[in-house]
Amino acid sequence: MTREAFTGTAWVTGAGTGIGRALALALAARGMTVAASARTETDLVSLADEAGRPGAILPVPLDVTDEAAVRAAVAHIEAVIGPITLAILNAGTNSEVSAQKFDTDKFAHVVNTNLMGAVYSLSALLPLLRQRRAGRVAVVASVAGYRGLPTSGAYSATKAALIALAEALKPELETDGVELTLINPGFVDTPLTRKNSFPMPFLIDTDEAVHAIMSGLERGRFEIVFPWQMALLMKLLGSLPYGPFFAITRRLVRRL
Ligand SMILES: NC(=O)c1ccc[n+]([C@@H]2O[C@H](COP(=O)([O-])OP(=O)(O)OC[C@H]3O[C@@H](n4cnc5c(N)ncnc54)[C@H](OP(=O)(O)O)[C@@H]3O)[C@@H](O)[C@H]2O)c1
Repeated sequence: MTREAFTGTAWVTGAGTGIGRALALALAARGMTVAASARTETDLVSLADEAGRPGAILPVPLDVTDEAAVRAAVAHIEAVIGPITLAILNAGTNSEVSAQKFDTDKFAHVVNTNLMGAVYSLSALLPLLRQRRAGRVAVVASVAGYRGLPTSGAYSATKAALIALAEALKPELETDGVELTLINPGFVDTPLTRKNSFPMPFLIDTDEAVHAIMSGLERGRFEIVFPWQMALLMKLLGSLPYGPFFAITRRLVRRL
């Protein structure tokens, strides 16, 4: 993907706040028309205002856990705004699920939003992109998907599943002329992470995150992982055998 390839219509889910919002503004600034989705319509309206250029960002309110609504939203974007050339499947949530408070409702909510939300979006998008033999889908997972971390079982499980899903789909979609990108952020300062009470190493702001994502998309990378310090730390943790890995995570449990 080149700079010139930021043309046409982008669809960003989870565009109301945080990474998705900053990314929607960056894509609009590059000249794309952005269909912005989230559940909170007021966030999307203020985002469209912030873009400055009228019609640059168009609110498409949506709950990604509702498969029929996802299908209708994609059909609406294609018919009214334009064929989707870039989809950023970014909508996500987090809820602590510990061994002590193993709450299945919370678990299901995280799975339905992070994993099934992306699955429903892919299911609506892939037939269109495969038929056109064009377009790129970027799935936002997390470095938290590299390894299971204490109290993060639900979140890490969904992000690990998204990583596996992207790895599985990538070579198949390549043969169909559709590009797939996996975005694995470290800690980014957003409403999602402001709820965390634990220290967040190498925390970056959304501008830095968007810079990394835009330049990764331009270079046509499969995995966009940032910041590099967190990427290195989590890739090292990911490659450890269970003995030393659990020696580290046991210490985390003692600190909870
Ligand atoms: N921040 C980090 O450190 C970090 C690190 C790694 C990965 N990530 C991932 O990056 C993505 C964005 O996170 P963020 O940090 O920017 O969080 P955020 O500020 O909380 O943004 C999440 C966005 O998703 C939307 N959303 C949540 N549930 C939704 C649903 N059911 N349907 C549609 N939209 C929904 C939210 O809007 P509504 O509530 O209005 O729907 C909001 O616009 C997530 O997938 C997250 O897991 C973040």
